[in-house]
Amino acid sequence: MQPVENYNKKIKRIVLSKEEIDAAVQKAGKTIDSWYDGRPILLVCILKGSFVFMSDLSRAISVPCEIAFMSVKSYFAGTVSSGTVNIEMDLDVDINKYNVIIVEDIVDTGRTLNEVVKLLKARNPLSLKVVTLLDKPSRRVVDFVPDYTLFSIPDFFVIGYGLDCAELYRNLPYIAEYDGE
Ligand code: IMP
Ligand code: MG
Repeated sequence: MQPVENYNKKIKRIVLSKEEIDAAVQKAGKTIDSWYDGRPILLVCILKGSFVFMSDLSRAISVPCEIAFMSVKSYFAGTVSSGTVNIEMDLDVDINKYNVIIVEDIVDTGRTLNEVVKLLKARNPLSLKVVTLLDKPSRRVVDFVPDYTLFSIPDFFVIGYGLDCAELYRNLPYIAEYDGE
């Protein structure tokens, strides 16, 4: 791998500290417990961005819980709202006997999750909810509302806690604004 120029300089400022994220994740875990009241659930992690959030959220949940992973790539031309979502790696379970929660890192235009929800609903899960760590509602181009959002943020590019810029910074323990200058 080549050396990375200005790696630390690109971390403009911390937007959400590790402590703020931890507190919000604990709260989200308790909310999820209250939704299912002891019934088992399946957490579906959308790779790669959600891997850190999924890891912490799963440990904040007390109801019986299985985990599964899915990787998707979306292709949208310009500003149109519908496009194609290609499944790069599919779930290894049939979800029709599960209460499913999709765990996402960030909802931006909403197009990716909108398609993923359609795909998974077609497989007839017992129920389907979407929990997202971050939401940028001002960027939305399709009408998509997550069932639970930990933080709504304005329109700037964020990195850390799973989120990347060109595959880097996913391992930062906090969420920061990326300096694109
Ligand atoms: P959308 O909602 O279909 O526009 O796509 C959301 C996806 O775009 C997320 O899953 C991220 O991979 C990526 N994304 C959007 N905003 C950001 C950001 O601020 N930082 C890192 N990735 C982002
Ligand atoms: Mg993502």
